[in-house]
Amino acid sequence: MKVAWSEALSTGNRAIDNQHKYLIDIINDVADLVENNGTPAQLKKILNLLQYYTEWHFCNEEECMHRLKCPTAEKNKDAHAQFIDTFLAYRAEIDANESTALDVASRMYKTLTSWLVQHIQGIDTELGPVSAEENAR
Ligand SMILES: [Fe+2]
Repeated sequence: MKVAWSEALSTGNRAIDNQHKYLIDIINDVADLVENNGTPAQLKKILNLLQYYTEWHFCNEEECMHRLKCPTAEKNKDAHAQFIDTFLAYRAEIDANESTALDVASRMYKTLTSWLVQHIQGIDTELGPVSAEENAR
């Protein structure tokens, strides 16, 4: 079962929601690749994109929360750092052994998607109440 963006994942900030939709898209590419028995090279290509986009998005979202004085801004930063650590641990495991890469990618997918859903609903949604002005632009 792949994760799908729905209103249940809306933060109430339009720009951030669009970024989350694309992030979910890339994460789902990992699931597709596992299902289709992709090669380690194909997997690494997606993981590179996932890492770069995640880092860019986190940076953008942290700046957004800071600017809008979002009450969960500090918690968000800590949670993002944790997510990057988790991602990098999986990535190292994948790079270390190509023969188990798809199994690790499958575990990684499950961990990252459940983290993301909980994170968006628990922390990122605090952006909603402070985003009205920005959404109107
Ligand atoms: Fe976040």
